[in-house]
Amino acid sequence: MKTALILNGPNLNLLGTREPAVYGAQTLADVEKLCAQACASHGFALDFRQSNHEGQLVDWLHEAGRLQAAGTLAGVILNAGAYTHTSVALLDAIKGTGISLIELHISNVFAREAYRHHSYISAAARAVMCGFGVSGYALAIAGLADMQTGV
Ligand code: DQA
Repeated sequence: MKTALILNGPNLNLLGTREPAVYGAQTLADVEKLCAQACASHGFALDFRQSNHEGQLVDWLHEAGRLQAAGTLAGVILNAGAYTHTSVALLDAIKGTGISLIELHISNVFAREAYRHHSYISAAARAVMCGFGVSGYALAIAGLADMQTGV
C-alpha cells in the first residue's frame, strides 16, 4: 500500500478558529479524519503532518523524495499556506526531489489579495487545487489515485 503524504504549512494548525469566513469551521484534526476516510477508500496509507517552519517542510519534501525513489509514496499533497507566495526554497525542494505533488489551497486564492495570486509552488506541481474548502483535500486524494493509473 502506497502512502499519501499530506503536508500543511504555517497557521493551518489554527483551522477552526482562524478566519472561519475564509477557511471554515473545521479543525485540522477534522481535516485529518476526512483525509483518513478518503485515503482508506482509495487504498492509500495516510501520513498527515503540519509545521509552521519552512525548513521542516523542506526536510519533509526531501524525505518524500526518498520514499518516492523507494516506490512507497503515492504522492504529496501540499498546502504550504503563506510560504506558497514566498518560498523559493520549497520550489527548489520539489524540483530537486522530482516528487509528484499536488498544490492545495482551502480558499480560492485568486479571489483574494493580489499577493496571493502568485505561487512559487505551481511551476513544480503536477496539479493545483483551490477554493473547494477543506473538501479539496478529499478531492486531491481522489486526484492522486487517478495519477497512479496514469490519468
Ligand atoms: C491557504 C491560502 C494562503 O494564501 C494562506 O496564506 C494560507 C492558506 C489556503 O489554504 O487557502 O495560509 O494556503
